[in-house]
Amino acid sequence: MSEIKKVAVIGGGTMGNGIAHVFAMNGYDVKLIETAQEFVDRAMNTIDKNLSRMVAKEKISEAEKEATLDRIQPHLTIPGAVLDADLIVEAVPESYELKKKIFTEVDLHAPEHAIIASNTSSISITKLAAVTKRPEKVIGMHFFNPVPVMKLVEVIDGLETEKQVTESIMQTSEKLGKVPVSANDSPGFVSNRVLMPMINEAIFCVYEGVADPEAVDNVMKMGMAHPMGPLRLADFIGLDVCLDILNVLYDGFKDPKYRPCPLLVKMVDAGKLGDKTGEGFFTY
Ligand code: CAA
Repeated sequence: MSEIKKVAVIGGGTMGNGIAHVFAMNGYDVKLIETAQEFVDRAMNTIDKNLSRMVAKEKISEAEKEATLDRIQPHLTIPGAVLDADLIVEAVPESYELKKKIFTEVDLHAPEHAIIASNTSSISITKLAAVTKRPEKVIGMHFFNPVPVMKLVEVIDGLETEKQVTESIMQTSEKLGKVPVSANDSPGFVSNRVLMPMINEAIFCVYEGVADPEAVDNVMKMGMAHPMGPLRLADFIGLDVCLDILNVLYDGFKDPKYRPCPLLVKMVDAGKLGDKTGEGFFTY
């Protein structure tokens, strides 16, 4: 398997700009694809800001920051950006229809040897692989927010993912300074199968009047040394994203233990989605 040198990241949102940031900081040439100039500008500004934070903390030098930014080339369309890529990482919102469209287009234009990875938090890798003519080269590469800080990359094999592809992505993750953990395709993989029921249960505690959000979070922060309580974390992830993932678990296993708490559904209906709307279980 040839070495991965050129990477295309599709989507410049919270996850996409973080993924572009870590690849570029570790010497990879990155093409960052967004749908409009304003989104490209926003992504580049966020990367600039997060790199400046690292300079201020003396984790990297000003020269390394500039070199990292120089390695990221923004693009507005997929075909030209993936033409010479060794690895494409898709990091667009969690819609199967949207990802299907992107995977079809990437498959058409990317070189034959290229690996197509998805940063999906819960959509089936096997199902995404099936829309391409290279299911053996499709894999999950699941990063965690904030990407420059969190150590884990959950590497998910679809039904047909080749062993060499998994090995290549595990090695690449290590080159990014991350710790890769391998898992098989299954609803929620490992991360969200364990995390989301905890968050859901925390919401049930509030819904049933067991304790208020602050008390629930304090129990998990002080008692279990979690850096954020589950409700603060739910706001950080986005309550809409949490609800989508719980629905994937619920539909995938047909098991009532994954049913989303009615309070979560109600908050999403009300547009209280957490940090991104300024209000969720807490206000920002
Ligand atoms: N880029 C670069 N550095 C960043 C950063 C960013 N975007 N955000 C924070 N940092 C750095 C800070 O500079 C700081 O560095 P030092 O330790 O060198 O001082 C460090 O991270 C900690 O940041 P802060 O001091 O500002 O704040 P904190 O101590 O409260 O930590 C946190 C913030 C890292 C987010 C911490 O609260 C945490 O780990 N929270 C849990 C996050 C988590 O669980 N993420 C996973 C969510 S699930 C997911 O992403 C996937 C999914 O499928 C849903």
